[in-house]
Amino acid sequence: MPKKPLDFKKKEEKRRKDEDLFKVVDSAIDTATYNGLMLVSKKLNLEEIFGSISSGKEAKIYPAKDFKGKFYALKVFYVSTAQSKKALIKYTKGDYRFEGAKVGSTRSLVELWTKKEFRNLRDMFDAGVRVPEPYIFFRNILVMDFIGENGVRAPLLKELPDDEINEDVYMDILEQITKMIKKARLVHGDLSEYNILVKDKKPYIIDVSQALPIEHDKSLELLKNDVENINRFFANKGIEVQGTDSFLSNLLGDLDVHNCGGSEDTGSKQDNPETGRDDQL
Ligand SMILES: Nc1ncnc2c1ncn2[C@@H]1O[C@H](COP(=O)(O)OP(=O)(O)O)[C@@H](O)[C@H]1O
Ligand SMILES: [Mg+2]
Repeated sequence: MPKKPLDFKKKEEKRRKDEDLFKVVDSAIDTATYNGLMLVSKKLNLEEIFGSISSGKEAKIYPAKDFKGKFYALKVFYVSTAQSKKALIKYTKGDYRFEGAKVGSTRSLVELWTKKEFRNLRDMFDAGVRVPEPYIFFRNILVMDFIGENGVRAPLLKELPDDEINEDVYMDILEQITKMIKKARLVHGDLSEYNILVKDKKPYIIDVSQALPIEHDKSLELLKNDVENINRFFANKGIEVQGTDSFLSNLLGDLDVHNCGGSEDTGSKQDNPETGRDDQL
């Protein structure tokens, strides 16, 4: 038998290494996403990517572990869903941070959506809101801190046993909303017991792709809805809740809402996974 040429052998070895890293066969992952995952893995020194723990309307979540044993959550947005396209258009229109963005193909829309969630997480994290720390994004892949223990995710507020649902958790969530508004100047827009993980009694806010600046036309309506969702959940659990209107008037009373507009060129394609912030958006 003839010997295999050297570069062929090398390629085969590389493929085997990649397969080691990503043992999960997943039909949701197209070639471009797969290649993106390989790049992200290299950048973060990932040892393994595990099977998805959630398949939502717009994305799948995969836990991953680096060689030091640190866990990450990889949020991989589907590249072609009408859902993401509709939502993206709705939630980026009127957001001054994304006004200059070029959004032609569905893929570029989804990439912008990924970037938007990263930016929202970054702004919230920097403002001291308890969200998973975002690390990098690349194309339709966002990498953030894994909220859980040893690859087992923390329960959602929705899944928390009744005896762990108390006023402290409620007040803590109101505090996170307050920081979001006053420091990050963002409205979550889809806050509910389904988008809060609770670890060591502390609520972590997740799923922030649709979050909008408070200057946006729809922000007040969305904020009211967020607070109503939280109040409804805790009231149903027998916790005494603050009236939505009085909480909102306290929160917004001294807030200076002005349009700090200005369009930004969000660029089109990245070539490398990035970690900084100014060069990303
Ligand atoms: N950082 C994270 N750490 C652990 N689990 C996560 C993390 N982010 C998301 N999840 C899990 O994945 C699910 C879906 O994530 P989410 O961001 O809410 O996407 P969507 O609801 O749009 O599908 C969450 O309900 C949660 O169970
Ligand atoms: Mg969600």
